[in-house]
Amino acid sequence: MRRPNDRLRRAKIVCVSAGRERQAEVFLSGATGRRTRIPFDAARLEERAQTVMSAEAFAYVAGGAGAEETMRANRRAFERVSIVPRTLRDVSRRDSSLELFGRRLPRPFLLAPIGVLELAHRDADVAAARAAASLGLPAIFSSQASRPMEEVAAAMGEAPRWFQLYWSTVDELVESFVARAERCGCEAIVITLDTTLLGWRARDLELGYLPFLRGRGLAQYTSDPVFQRLVRERGRTASAERPTLAALLTLLELRRNVRGLDPRAAVQTFTEIYSRSSLRWDDLVSIRDLTRLPIILKGILHPDDARRAVEAGFDGIVVSNHGGRQLDGAIATLHALPAIVEEVAGRVPVLLDSGIRTGGDALKALAFGATAVLVGRPYVYGLAVGGEAGAREVLQNLLAEFDLALGLSGCASLADVRDMKLTIPERSNPATTSYSDEGR
Ligand code: GLV
Repeated sequence: MRRPNDRLRRAKIVCVSAGRERQAEVFLSGATGRRTRIPFDAARLEERAQTVMSAEAFAYVAGGAGAEETMRANRRAFERVSIVPRTLRDVSRRDSSLELFGRRLPRPFLLAPIGVLELAHRDADVAAARAAASLGLPAIFSSQASRPMEEVAAAMGEAPRWFQLYWSTVDELVESFVARAERCGCEAIVITLDTTLLGWRARDLELGYLPFLRGRGLAQYTSDPVFQRLVRERGRTASAERPTLAALLTLLELRRNVRGLDPRAAVQTFTEIYSRSSLRWDDLVSIRDLTRLPIILKGILHPDDARRAVEAGFDGIVVSNHGGRQLDGAIATLHALPAIVEEVAGRVPVLLDSGIRTGGDALKALAFGATAVLVGRPYVYGLAVGGEAGAREVLQNLLAEFDLALGLSGCASLADVRDMKLTIPERSNPATTSYSDEGR
């Protein structure tokens, strides 16, 4: 039997290798005939992941909402901003560490919360969190994780972790999740605001595949005593239809994935309660009664919402469009960032999520005022191709590339990056829709 302490001991923190060391490591391995399985280029990494994932799993991870305009806009925004490097500024010693919510981090990167990691690899959240832990990067546990947060926390020693919350329609479940996250040593709660309804995702719709309905990505729920009680109390509504063969196969899959509860009742309960589309600012502030942890709001794209978040006493903001998975046509996060940074005026950290693929992307986001960035799909692809080691390699490469981008742009610190003056080309910065949010 696996004991949590074994894992704890094994999760030793390795040093974050700087850009030159990582380059040397890769080239020296190449010279001895050893090539890495993990592509260095983000597009090739995605292609490689596609070859090892099922069609459904790949569609779920890679897909975005609607025509995937926002997903592309996220990338285009980065592509259209140019760095103008400065020279002869002694970048031989570079420090991109930072302090975030009382914790010193080696680099301004965190792992975005991503659900259903079992679609990429059987070790799922445990592998991703261990990869993050080995590099000292915070992992943000997803509400839709494939493994309960307690198991993941036990596998990552003292390494930093946060918890991402979808605000359930059942307050008691919100309380239970937050209390569990505290016990698991999470250092912040990230409330996702942009998924009170699920986006219209063409790739998943075409395959008729939503992992939660197969009992996948429900581990935080099925391991929760409040959720278990709700499932037992509610039971399920029996269907009068004769089951098809496909329905029977789905049921078998469900039974494998949901243990100890009636699987159909568990899925039904989950779909009814996982998110509250009536959520308003007044509901959100009640989280202060549940925890003293920093509360960060994820999914903010409008400066007025950023102002409201700060005025309501929240501790941080993640500028995110959920990797283009929620509202198609939503503004690219890099375009939304400058106005939000201006509005927030340094009162709380502003993190940027969605579209980060290279070290240069991260540099650009930081130059526009982000405190740190969240990386998402790339580590999932690394996980799919090479498990924990694959996810670690992807992250190591990103950190190495960032370190080199820092030096090559003439910066030796994050303060130097913030002093870079980058501009978003006029034509690629679409006007934001403005409307009054009175009474909303
Ligand atoms: C859930 O968070 C998703 O993006 O599928």
